[in-house]
Amino acid sequence: MSANTPKFCFVVHPLSLDDVARYEPGAKGKGAPIVRKIMEWMPPWNAVHVTGVRTPDGRETEGWFVSAPLLPEQMMEFPREEVYARILRAIEIGVEMGAEIAGLGAFTAVVGDGGVTIAERSPIPVTTGNSLTIAAGVQSFFRGADEMGIDPAASTAVVVGATGSIGAACVRLIAPRVGHVILVARNATRLAKFHEQIAPELPCESSFTTDISAAVRRAQLILTATSSTQDVIEPEDLQTGSVVCELSLPHDVSRRVATERPDVLVTEGGNMVVPGAPYFERVREPGSEFDLNLPPRTALACMSETMVLALENRLEPFTLGRGIDVRKVMEIDDMAKRCGFTLAGMRSFDTAVTAERIAQIREAADARRRVLAS
Ligand SMILES: NC(=O)c1ccc[n+]([C@@H]2O[C@H](COP(=O)([O-])OP(=O)(O)OC[C@H]3O[C@@H](n4cnc5c(N)ncnc54)[C@H](OP(=O)(O)O)[C@@H]3O)[C@@H](O)[C@H]2O)c1
Repeated sequence: MSANTPKFCFVVHPLSLDDVARYEPGAKGKGAPIVRKIMEWMPPWNAVHVTGVRTPDGRETEGWFVSAPLLPEQMMEFPREEVYARILRAIEIGVEMGAEIAGLGAFTAVVGDGGVTIAERSPIPVTTGNSLTIAAGVQSFFRGADEMGIDPAASTAVVVGATGSIGAACVRLIAPRVGHVILVARNATRLAKFHEQIAPELPCESSFTTDISAAVRRAQLILTATSSTQDVIEPEDLQTGSVVCELSLPHDVSRRVATERPDVLVTEGGNMVVPGAPYFERVREPGSEFDLNLPPRTALACMSETMVLALENRLEPFTLGRGIDVRKVMEIDDMAKRCGFTLAGMRSFDTAVTAERIAQIREAADARRRVLAS
């Protein structure tokens, strides 16, 4: 390890009951109500020791994924102060291990004010990791368009979750390259206000709606970044040959799309390949690797942002709250590249999207277009 490279911690939590069994194999086969009840009183615990993160110029860091074991809906429903207390305890565990910067995973960055209050109360700087998620997500979005032969400039794009921390910056970064962008969220007042404020700055046509189905039906390119705990993108609404890039965790796209719409490309937008030889070891079972449910050497972009800040010795609250400045997105993207992080290969519904798979999707889209035309 480089002598002065700080260590990091990252707060994780299970996204679903299946996830609980990955964190804690003993939970497999137990009924959902029991698992939920156990999680209500389960304290944060140190789940994963991350080693081997090494930049091409030899800088190295290590860190810990500390679990604040609540499901997304529990994070949203439980008293806010109780959830904050658990997240802060998870950060304290990281500090006890030697971490000097903390990242907030999935709903730990969504709950309340997007990390602002947590950062105020934390003994070390905190980042949500959303800036690098935005950078990776926008790159994945346009890679998907390219793979499907879609000309963005002639297309309508939809950002679902457009008023959110991630969604709002994605609108700004997508707009210069598409023909029209539709902003979608549930809260109509907030959405209208945001659109009024952002529309004059956007170089393309723009509109907004709370009707997700109607927006998706008009689009060839869709990016989702919602805090929904339910499916929001349904197979019936998707245009033939369209692309859905999803950043939300848990996912927004109905699993039915995988079986019912072979003519649509769905891609997870926020995965990155970590430089060096990253190893994610279960703290409770030394020698056994933690299954991140991602390909080898791959981590989420929000985890990667935390690692990059440690490697670059930038011990600061880099990304917090809503209203992220796109200059920060560019900055962390540059830092990540310098540290050797790269966009991961395309994945959809937990499987790699190969060139062969893309060819199949394009063929299915052509066939469906022919049927629709006749
Ligand atoms: N892949 C990664 O590495 C990564 C990293 C960080 C975060 N994430 C995920 O990204 C997602 C967004 O995070 P964020 O920090 O941007 O959250 P956020 O700031 O809370 O924004 C959420 C957005 O979604 C909208 N929304 C919520 N439920 C909706 C629904 N049912 N239909 C339509 N819109 C809905 C919200 O507006 P309304 O309330 O008005 O609907 C808001 O615009 C989360 O799922 C998070 O876990 C992924």
